[in-house]
Amino acid sequence: MQTAPQAAPRHIAIVMDGNGRWAKQRHLPRLAGHRQGVESLRRCVNACAARGIEVLTVFAFSSENWSRPPDEVSGLMELMGKALLREVPRLVSDGVRLYFVGERASLSAGMREALQSAEAATAANRRMVLNVCFNYGGRWDIAQAAAALAARGEAITEERLARAMAMGHVPDPDLVIRTGGETRISNFLLWQAAYAELYFTDALWPDFDEAALDAAIADYAARERRFGRTSEQVVNVSEPSC
Ligand code: IPE
Ligand code: IPE
Ligand code: MG
Repeated sequence: MQTAPQAAPRHIAIVMDGNGRWAKQRHLPRLAGHRQGVESLRRCVNACAARGIEVLTVFAFSSENWSRPPDEVSGLMELMGKALLREVPRLVSDGVRLYFVGERASLSAGMREALQSAEAATAANRRMVLNVCFNYGGRWDIAQAAAALAARGEAITEERLARAMAMGHVPDPDLVIRTGGETRISNFLLWQAAYAELYFTDALWPDFDEAALDAAIADYAARERRFGRTSEQVVNVSEPSC
């Protein structure tokens, strides 16, 4: 059976999971795993930009991650602040535009300021978009978008909701990758992943390298995306008759 060839993904989204287990394997504190996770993210950003990916979205801190032990939460907040100071100049020179996606009101004033200035510093970049989902939850996003429409007295339609969402500035993800071996979505991109291809790998996030990314992209390329149609329709659409 012939399947339609799959174009490269325009938008890849990643649940960067497994930092804690990576550290545990090495008898290190969990925060050492998160630090290594930042290194892995830098490598992944470079690899995606080099492969012509237009949008990379990563899950860095979920609405539910506040329930972790207080020193892990404060360590993660501190790590984010330090990573921004160190990485933003590189993102600027690499042409990567940064967006933070998530609820900001419950972040500290200093953190809000840091996120805003990082976004402003990269605002003119056009090579690739990097969305960092931080204090993000898919349910939060759907609810805040609905609330925004209601406050403006607008009717709630799929198109308006999609535009009002915190991810409204980018197309939906084509490929959602989760590292760390769990096969769940954990409140990530609940709306936007409706037709994404899902890819789960046992690799822990700090170990997710270029080869692992290429394996995910190759797996995606072999899939047939039908969007509700039949396989025959998809093959016919992608192969113009002559
Ligand atoms: C993902 O790694 C990073 C965050 C959630 C901040 P984890 O910290 O969840 O790593 P594991 O799942 O405990 O190994
Ligand atoms: C998902 O990972 C959130 C991030 C990667 C930021 P978790 O480790 O928090 O997910 P669960 O708790 O195992 O579902
Ligand atoms: Mg985890």
